[in-house]
Amino acid sequence: MIGESPWWKRTTVYQVYPRSFSDSNADGIGDLPGVIDRLDYLHWLGVETIWLSPFYSSPQTDFGYDISDHFNIAPEYGDLEDCRRLIDEVHARGMKIVLDMVLNHTSIEHPWFQESRSSRNNDRRDFYIWRDGRRAAGSSGGAPPNNWRSMLGNSGWHHDPTTDQWYWASFLPFQPDLNYRNPAVKQAMLDVVRHWLREGADGLRLDIFNAIFKDASFADNPFSLRPLPSEHNPDGFFQRALHTQNHPDTIAFARELRAVVDEFRDPPRFVVGEVFGHTDLLREYCGAEGQGLNLVFLFKSLRTPLTAPALRELVREFELAFPEPLFPTYVFGNHDRPRGMERLGNDPAKARMLAAFQLTVRGVPFLYYGEEIGLGHHHGMPHELARDPIAARYRFLPRWLLPSMRRRGILINRDECRSPMPWGVGPHAGFSSGETPWLPVHPDSPLINVDAQRGDPGSVLSSYRRMLNLRRHSPALSDGTLALIEPRADARRVLAFARMHAHQTARVYLNLSDRELPLDLRDAPGVRLQSNLHDTPEAASGRRLLAPWEAVVIFDTDGVAT
Ligand code: NOJ
Repeated sequence: MIGESPWWKRTTVYQVYPRSFSDSNADGIGDLPGVIDRLDYLHWLGVETIWLSPFYSSPQTDFGYDISDHFNIAPEYGDLEDCRRLIDEVHARGMKIVLDMVLNHTSIEHPWFQESRSSRNNDRRDFYIWRDGRRAAGSSGGAPPNNWRSMLGNSGWHHDPTTDQWYWASFLPFQPDLNYRNPAVKQAMLDVVRHWLREGADGLRLDIFNAIFKDASFADNPFSLRPLPSEHNPDGFFQRALHTQNHPDTIAFARELRAVVDEFRDPPRFVVGEVFGHTDLLREYCGAEGQGLNLVFLFKSLRTPLTAPALRELVREFELAFPEPLFPTYVFGNHDRPRGMERLGNDPAKARMLAAFQLTVRGVPFLYYGEEIGLGHHHGMPHELARDPIAARYRFLPRWLLPSMRRRGILINRDECRSPMPWGVGPHAGFSSGETPWLPVHPDSPLINVDAQRGDPGSVLSSYRRMLNLRRHSPALSDGTLALIEPRADARRVLAFARMHAHQTARVYLNLSDRELPLDLRDAPGVRLQSNLHDTPEAASGRRLLAPWEAVVIFDTDGVAT
């Protein structure tokens, strides 16, 4: 029966980047009432959980990932009343809501940091990580305390002339890291977590969780030959991130945090960590018995080619590393990475296939807004006009590094994947009725938008909706174990697996090629076959051809009504 696994293992998650989703008050910036206006659409689409990127008070230097008050809402997004209404409206539709928690750092404008930097004796001094420079400090502060590099490649130490010491920031200089070795900090941030769970958040997404603890020795990081980090290896910029990322104390903290989340039981809540490292290391955040973070993002999928052998390897790796009670995740885009369509050559047939893969495989699927209509990466946004603080930073990087950064999926200007959601053909694609949206809409929006695809059964949107609903109503797809099948047809072109549940087995065949391929169902017929390309179920016996980029799911029973 559905319900054996906790809801968060069976759910599908849709990421909303609030600034770009829907503008209700014509100021060019998406907002919380705008999200509320679109909940009926999300419900119609069939997503079960929405995750919102941060909307708390913030100077918006990193568009909300720099929080200045964890308990309030940035005015451009609305107010606390809007937030409560959003949570209620989500729940009223039987959906769940995940909020973003930026535990690692605050904005430089947070009152804690303002106090902390004011004097060496301030009560909040130890809320952040302050050190003396390496040489006798002159007016420039001497040299940084050690060789540690931020996640972006520069020294993560920043000299503050007021007290002639350096503070540490894992990301951008205006995002100082909190000092979790101070019990008062840990307590204060766990209180933030409790606050939002009390407000009704069903889950929390943890921003750069793997940076939380830095080594107390402050010893230099060792040298590495790697010029650039990647999703599964945070070493880069010629050093190992030994003392700055994936510290054993961070992995231990995952369990402490989980215990706090588990204080909330009705309904159970979950946390998903943004962490970078090898798949086996990422598993440690969840703990062998699943007593750590409920889920971690497995970003390897972001760069896996859409081919049968590559996806088979990916599934094999995730299945090996995340057996029950652990559970993998599948992600093909987010607000930091090139849009998935970029890798698919902007081919809608491949987008429909990606939907089929992501929504039939075992693991929580995280969809990024716009993916469901095949929204493309917005190339050609002028770099000089970029709003993303990373773009400004990379202006100073040696040019020779840029192409290989792009190849590794490191975005030089993240605005390109944050263009406003195209809802229709009106001005600004229906995103805003104001003068100028905060980012330009994608030039393909007159063709690629929700209204244009809604009634078309062959559209990317219809495929996503079909597969989301298929998964939702199938015990096998939402809650079954997975076994890879060696397809009779060409294994280089076809990926096949079975999803098994006490009440249903589903066999999935994905034709990842431009050719028609035969599918012989005589040995293992089912009661029903569903294609990702059209709505009507078919009889599942005999022989059939798989169309190019077609996926089919064959059910042996009709399952159990949810
Ligand atoms: C990761 C977030 O996804 C990104 O958007 C943000 O800029 C950094 N963490 C810093 O919070």
